[in-house]
Amino acid sequence: MNAEAIGGVFSAAHREFTGWSGRLWRPLGEITAAVARPAPGERVLDACCGAGASAIPAARAVGSRGVVHGVDVAEGLLEHGRREAAALGLDHLRFVNADVLAWRDDAPYDLVQCAYGVFFFPDMDEGSRRLAGLLRPGGRFAVTTWLRDGMARLVPIGVAAALPERPELAEYRQGRGPDGRVDTPEKVHSWLTSLGLRDVTVEEVRFTQPLHVEDAWSFFLSAAMRGFVEGLPPDAIDRVRARFEEGLREADIGILDGSSLIGIGHAPG
Ligand SMILES: C[S@@+](CC[C@H](N)C(=O)[O-])C[C@H]1O[C@@H](n2cnc3c(N)ncnc32)[C@H](O)[C@@H]1O
Repeated sequence: MNAEAIGGVFSAAHREFTGWSGRLWRPLGEITAAVARPAPGERVLDACCGAGASAIPAARAVGSRGVVHGVDVAEGLLEHGRREAAALGLDHLRFVNADVLAWRDDAPYDLVQCAYGVFFFPDMDEGSRRLAGLLRPGGRFAVTTWLRDGMARLVPIGVAAALPERPELAEYRQGRGPDGRVDTPEKVHSWLTSLGLRDVTVEEVRFTQPLHVEDAWSFFLSAAMRGFVEGLPPDAIDRVRARFEEGLREADIGILDGSSLIGIGHAPG
């Protein structure tokens, strides 16, 4: 999917996505920012910021002498972020609708953070190198990804549920996507190192909670899996939902596992 199509899916998902903010995106965004440690006065780029889960904590941390640019292609999510930032008086946090891979500012950043975004880039390495290139010498690149056997367990069930309506999804296989390249601490470490970053560290964060099958459909519709059913007629969507819920019961998935990895690397210099 290109950036415009991704933005369309996440924009359309804004209600379901923000419905999961309290249980998922916000706590994990707080943790990303806690590990990335934006400091007072710093300039921060939050790439693929969504509704601001990690951009808002970063803006609180840098304070009014700092700057945070939250860049995303999903206008529906950015609007939520803008409203929340305004309510919190975070005037130094700017949400921008743009393809972050084409983004540049006049001055380099002290910190570029990207939570659950790099695997959407057409080329994860090239896109991430580009983001890291926006750092000042010694600046930090912080990337948050899903830990193996957590969130990724849901995706094959979603694919199997949608496959009878969308045969083209047969191409989609767990572990073959770019997310499978950054799903262990060792892989994140060597991947960040391969981008030319120095002094790489990786934190593993365990984050699970109960998932009731009845709530799982709104999760399906809240993020990338939504793309599997975009444009299908309502009766086909109902069939996907029924198969998805049945698949979760069969696999006995009673938890939402958002366990994550937060890797930090420093730009040379
Ligand atoms: C799973 S969401 C995560 C959002 C946010 N970082 C969070 O943790 O809540 C992934 C986000 O990446 C955005 N995205 C993907 N590719 C992008 C690109 N090239 N430029 C800007 N945003 C992009 C999507 O629109 C979506 O909002």
